[in-house]
Amino acid sequence: MDAAIKFKDLQWRYEHRTNFALKGINLEIIKNDFIGVVGANEHGKTTLVSAICGLIPHSYNGIYKGSVEVFGKKVFDSDALELATNVGFVFSDPEAQFTAMTVEEELAFGLENMGFEHAKIKERIDWAAETTLIQDLLDKSPYDISGGQKQRVAIACVLAMNPPIIIMDEPTSMIDPLGKNLIFDILRRLKKAGEHTLIVVEHNVEQLAPLADKMLLMYEGLVDRYLPTREFYSDSNYLQDRGVLAPESTEFVQWLISEKALPASINLPLDLAGGIETTRQALKRR
Ligand SMILES: Nc1ncnc2c1ncn2[C@@H]1O[C@H](COP(=O)(O)OP(=O)(O)OP(=O)(O)O)[C@@H](O)[C@H]1O
Ligand SMILES: [Mg+2]
Repeated sequence: MDAAIKFKDLQWRYEHRTNFALKGINLEIIKNDFIGVVGANEHGKTTLVSAICGLIPHSYNGIYKGSVEVFGKKVFDSDALELATNVGFVFSDPEAQFTAMTVEEELAFGLENMGFEHAKIKERIDWAAETTLIQDLLDKSPYDISGGQKQRVAIACVLAMNPPIIIMDEPTSMIDPLGKNLIFDILRRLKKAGEHTLIVVEHNVEQLAPLADKMLLMYEGLVDRYLPTREFYSDSNYLQDRGVLAPESTEFVQWLISEKALPASINLPLDLAGGIETTRQALKRR
């Protein structure tokens, strides 16, 4: 299978820091996989994804050893346009990426830089605005809207560019529960279309885990665990020791297994519907 992203022993230390934030990352992300990234605060999640979109090393000073390749080309040697074409990045603080006076200009900015024609730009903006439900915000200033609206605008900016790799760093941190559902609906649709490599850093594992093909745990600047989602959650004690929780339904079924109420061989659920189904079938068999 084609790798979209390859890390080869990447080490990175931010300027003025004594410790390396990334301590030798070796990692391959397969094209069109959906990767969920978890880990406690300060363990290197944002730094890891910044090394894919090129913020590291191009926008930060520091010490860089090893390499990251995106579609076979080293990020270190890629220019801003190449990187923007391949990788879209939604920041956890959406304001950090705004530069324009209106949301519509914000959406158009990247497309204009890439030399798209006016009609194509309009088509892309309409599609991205419709997908993220921000049509009524287009003439507003991106600074004068709510935190949740800002996050949706930031996602729309990336969708408008339609890069093959989309990274979101805690995209729902400012959003109320219904707004969070909307973001996960967008992710679900993108996953179903199967045309993007999606990398999502998110603490909300209840919604993230059922969507992710693989989960990645960052711990002390290293990829500590990178496995297909069910396998990743097969040992919740291990994860808990590293400050990470499993979905509640997964933990509940693991508890039933430990109490010998369910056989260890059953498929672990990742959400409530799966938990109910797994338990129902196991009980029926008894
Ligand atoms: N711009 C920066 N300059 C210097 N050090 C930084 C910078 N950004 C992050 N660090 C340091 O790098 C390490 C990893 O931070 P990082 O932001 O990648 O963690 P994180 O897992 O994303 O945390 P969080 O869950 O809080 O977002 C931390 O020790 C942090 O203090
Ligand atoms: Mg972070």
